Amino acid sequence: MSIQPEISPQPVEERPEPAEGPIVLVGAPGSGKSTVGALLAERLDVAFHDVDAVIVERSGKSIADIFVEDGEPAFRALEERTTAELLRRPGVLSLGGGAVLSPTTRAALRDHRVIWLKVGLAQSVKRVGLDTARPLLLGNVRRQLRKLLDERAALYREVGTEVIDTDDTTPADIVEMIMNAHVSQR
Ligand code: S3P
Repeated sequence: MSIQPEISPQPVEERPEPAEGPIVLVGAPGSGKSTVGALLAERLDVAFHDVDAVIVERSGKSIADIFVEDGEPAFRALEERTTAELLRRPGVLSLGGGAVLSPTTRAALRDHRVIWLKVGLAQSVKRVGLDTARPLLLGNVRRQLRKLLDERAALYREVGTEVIDTDDTTPADIVEMIMNAHVSQR
């Protein structure tokens, strides 16, 4: 008879190390995902991918045009597929602000290092600008952003393994914070 070693359950907060996947940045519009992602990748000397940019490049259309011509559900399906594909590439990956709305994407993020770049309403409005090309913010930008931040906070919290408050922090400082956490955690 063989004796099986006792397997203790894995604490929820402990996630497996990503084998080859990217460090992922999530957050609302204006949180700095693209700026910080590019800087971080440069600092780590790894590839940088931005889901929105890849969608625009491949479709030959702006995100706004995809929303208008094909509709939001078509954009979300494309976003989910593109995100799943890019999650298999090493480096740094910035997701679109609404990517976490997809349960499939949230599940796929479970074994990644996911940094939630948190932004408050005032800073988000300031960074995005009132005259925005973002289709979801058409109309009253401030009101739309408030709604979006309220609706999504729980989802960003769910997928994030780390959170960085970006309101009073420069992109360069955020990169340093990520690098330091990186060194101390691994
Ligand atoms: C969206 C955010 C945008 C873009 C699309 C939808 C959202 O990306 O993916 O307009 O639902 O919040 P950014 O977060 O880079 O603005």
